Amino acid sequence: MEDLKELISNSSLKHIAMIMDGNGRWATKRGEDRSYGHKFGSERVIEIAQICSDLGIKVLSLYAFSTENWKRPEKEVISIFNLLNKFISRELDTMIEKNIKLSIMGDLSQLPLINRKAVEHALKKTSSNTGLILNIGLNYGSRAEISTAFKRLYFDVRDGKIDIEDIDEKAISKTLYTADLPDPDILIRTGGEKRVSNFMLYQIAYSEFYFIDTLWPDFDFAELSKILKDFFKRDRRFGGINANKGS
Ligand code: IPE
Ligand code: IPE
Ligand code: MG
Repeated sequence: MEDLKELISNSSLKHIAMIMDGNGRWATKRGEDRSYGHKFGSERVIEIAQICSDLGIKVLSLYAFSTENWKRPEKEVISIFNLLNKFISRELDTMIEKNIKLSIMGDLSQLPLINRKAVEHALKKTSSNTGLILNIGLNYGSRAEISTAFKRLYFDVRDGKIDIEDIDEKAISKTLYTADLPDPDILIRTGGEKRVSNFMLYQIAYSEFYFIDTLWPDFDFAELSKILKDFFKRDRRFGGINANKGS
């Protein structure tokens, strides 16, 4: 832990994004219902958040429910939203104690009222925290996020708030859910699939990708440290050349 902490504090690493995939398969492998996997998966969330907080990471983005996940059987969707409220009531105190600030990306207006209320309560209770930002994608889809940004920018131009010439990469970034957050340095997907499933498409332009086979309920500190150690060996060029490495 200490060696990683030092590596992180001497680096520009600020933001880790994760697609938490594999809950269903984890449960099926055990002959259980998919919701059993979601339950175990939800328990990993606070553990990984605390580890990131202890490591001095500034932002942890986690994909919890996509705009496409509504296609799943109603029973599974209900179990995920029940777990969301259980997660909040179980972990809010830890978030406060650990100075973790909850942040949500996604359209909360489509969530059941009881979930929206719980989320809004947790957002308020943690709003002045200054430690790790735990940014959860809930009813999140990157294409929906970008479409909404287009509309907002259009209205801002129409209403004379900004000039068409002001619409640049920075203005678009500022109109996304992640307006005040740095782009992810690392994108991790558990569960073996090699795709991004509509997650942070604009923000991951220069993220380092890790697709790992481990199913989300099995993800732990050992897995994260392996990834972090590898990350520090990668040569991030951002389109330039790295004079030190001669490539
Ligand atoms: C990820 O696990 C959690 C959500 C999408 C809510 P899955 O439920 O997608 O698990 P698999 O991919 O079917 O194993
Ligand atoms: C992505 O996983 C969404 C979340 C982890 C919340 P999915 O399981 O929904 O993605 P696909 O269907 O395999 O692309
Ligand atoms: Mg999946």
